[in-house]
Amino acid sequence: MPRLVKLSRLGSGGSMFFLVERLYDILMASTEKSCLREWRRDLLQEVHGDVLEIGAGTGANIEFYPESVTHLVLSEPEKIMRDQLRIKAGRSVLRDITFSSASAEKVEGDDGSFDFVVTTLVCCSVVDLETVLEQIHRVLRPGGSLVFLEHVAAERGSARRRWQDRMTPLWRRLAGNCHFNREIENALCLAGFKISQIKRESMRTSMPLVRPTIRGIAVKICS
Ligand SMILES: C[S@@+](CC[C@H](N)C(=O)[O-])C[C@H]1O[C@@H](n2cnc3c(N)ncnc32)[C@H](O)[C@@H]1O
Repeated sequence: MPRLVKLSRLGSGGSMFFLVERLYDILMASTEKSCLREWRRDLLQEVHGDVLEIGAGTGANIEFYPESVTHLVLSEPEKIMRDQLRIKAGRSVLRDITFSSASAEKVEGDDGSFDFVVTTLVCCSVVDLETVLEQIHRVLRPGGSLVFLEHVAAERGSARRRWQDRMTPLWRRLAGNCHFNREIENALCLAGFKISQIKRESMRTSMPLVRPTIRGIAVKICS
């Protein structure tokens, strides 16, 4: 009874609702067209060397990795999404791509083994954001960077933020632990990153509660 098994995992954290996993590209198509594709292209153009992408989903970023990426590890815990990821990776110009099913709370990789880590629309859903950022910090080389594109909490005190706070307990059960109201920029600073580039923009054509986004580069600070 695979369908029932999947339903029982609803809200378990890393897993996304079975329909969303299967229809992800279709559900995201208009937002990809209106802004996400352009943002992904801009963000990834400078990435090079050894790169780890966490929560790579169905592979929306793959076509934007430049040839200066010498080794790409695509990590995705959900099998349904990972299967779609493998198909897209097969069309990439990059020759050295490997896959991982590890969750972001237990990133596979030696300390200081990556030049860049990439997360896009992932930090909202992980079970333990603090641990995930610790893990990203650990696997980055000194001076290495996290490239991020995330939807985030609206300004405190705003009407949108109040709705984000109200709706998150229900939404996270329907949408694979997605939180509307995570303060990700703050979490990055607390985790030992220095934000060297950041843009704040509305994710046009998406649901109003996920529209506030940040994207940019956070550099690992070594203590
Ligand atoms: C909204 S999708 C984004 C997919 C892709 N990064 C993109 O930009 O289209 C969220 C992704 O995060 C993954 N995810 C959720 N929790 C995770 C965790 N704890 N560790 C790793 N990946 C996780 C999901 O499996 C899913 O692929």
